[in-house]
Amino acid sequence: MMHIAFLLLIIFADGSSSKKVCSYQDVVDYLNLTTDNSVFKTTRPVLDHEHPTVVHLDIILYAILAVIEKTQTFIPVVWALMEWNNERISWNPDQFCGITQISVPKELLWKPDLIIYEMTEKDDSPKSPYMYMSYDGKVTAEAEMKVVSTCKMDVHKFPFDTQRCSITVASAIHCVQQIRLHPYSNSSRATQYSREVMKTQGEWDFLQLSVTSGNITFGDGMWEHLIYTFTMKRRPLLHVTNFLLPVLFFLILDLASFLIADHRGEKLGFKVTVLLAISVLLLILNDILPSMSNRTPLIATYCIVIFALMLLSLLETILVTYLMEKDSVSQEKLRLRDDREDKQETVKHQNCNTEEKRQTCCSCICKASDGEKQHEMLPVAQEVYNSIQSLESKALLLILEELKELQKTLNLHLSCRHEGGKFGHWATRINRAFFIFYVTTVSLFLSLIFVAWNT
Ligand SMILES: *[C@@H]1O[C@H](CO)[C@@H](O)[C@H](O)[C@H]1NC(C)=O
Ligand SMILES: *[C@@H]1O[C@H](CO)[C@@H](O)[C@H](O)[C@H]1NC(C)=O
Repeated sequence: MMHIAFLLLIIFADGSSSKKVCSYQDVVDYLNLTTDNSVFKTTRPVLDHEHPTVVHLDIILYAILAVIEKTQTFIPVVWALMEWNNERISWNPDQFCGITQISVPKELLWKPDLIIYEMTEKDDSPKSPYMYMSYDGKVTAEAEMKVVSTCKMDVHKFPFDTQRCSITVASAIHCVQQIRLHPYSNSSRATQYSREVMKTQGEWDFLQLSVTSGNITFGDGMWEHLIYTFTMKRRPLLHVTNFLLPVLFFLILDLASFLIADHRGEKLGFKVTVLLAISVLLLILNDILPSMSNRTPLIATYCIVIFALMLLSLLETILVTYLMEKDSVSQEKLRLRDDREDKQETVKHQNCNTEEKRQTCCSCICKASDGEKQHEMLPVAQEVYNSIQSLESKALLLILEELKELQKTLNLHLSCRHEGGKFGHWATRINRAFFIFYVTTVSLFLSLIFVAWNT
């Protein structure tokens, strides 16, 4: 019994001793990788100085934070992966329980000095402080960064535009003999990956990410670089509903205002209001677009032409109103002359006795009904009747006078509106001709500009 237990103990002890325990620190100790060992970080990690360090780079678009036309700034969030070879690192995984890679603080090892040419601001997003190194010397570092970069944008077709912004990655000082840059994945794979991981695109539709490599010659050195070009298309809905449609609505209102009558200046007030509304919208445009642009943006042409057309229609309305006014003044003169003649007649009438006046003036009203009765009555009765009638007819006379006055004014206005004098006639013709010109120009211009926007 005792022997068996002892044997078992030996077997167990043997089993545990054969299982070797390794820690990452063993590897680090083996490599002599300490903070005060400068061998790993001072120089480019090649044993033969003529060997270039090949850096494999991968950049994937993670999000489009902002595209600011006014300051020509493009802010993507990209995920970058770098991989290069460190010839000073190697260990045998069998010697360390199969450990093939370990993570170490970034500052322990040499890193390629890659920079982005277009970057204008230091990136302060949080970074992982570690990178991986493998037994065969491969070192991998990755980072997610917010790249605030400059991008030359063409806003000619705003808001139906497609923008292409690129970031150029190259070594800051190492030329092509020292650092070679190779893209990890080609354009189509990078595009596909980006589509898969894309978080936010804002108002942009990500279309493509293309990778090209090239050499920059400067002096007698040559630097290899990779250019990542992001192509994206704007989603125009917001700008269409916020800007293009309201301007169009105001234009339609302006067109509709041709139905408002010309006299009394109502149309004029309406048109001025619409014009003011458009100029408020122009202020919004000023906020969006950069002041420096090589070609005039189509949207500016759109606004200016519509504004000019509305201004023209306002001027036309002013002209027509002026002509109408002139016409009504001449009509007024005519009326005044008529009035004077009437007054003279009235004075003549007043010279006659009241009886006569009543007879002449009242005749139109009461001739038919009372004329025969008067002749049949006795003189005394007629006298009484007349005195009663005179009170009534005086009131009737007054009403008649008022009605005449009213009819004159009404006639004047009606003639003003429909027939008019020779000015009124001209005003109507100008109105008609201008309306036809306006509608033709507007439809022609709108179709032209929409074609330009679509191509
Ligand atoms: C490790 O570094 C120490 C001093 O930094 C040195 O004395 C030692 O020889 C080195 N060992 C190896 C294996 O390089
Ligand atoms: C850049 O220069 C290197 C070395 O001359 C060459 O091997 C490489 O093909 C060049 N790259 C391009 C894109 O021309």
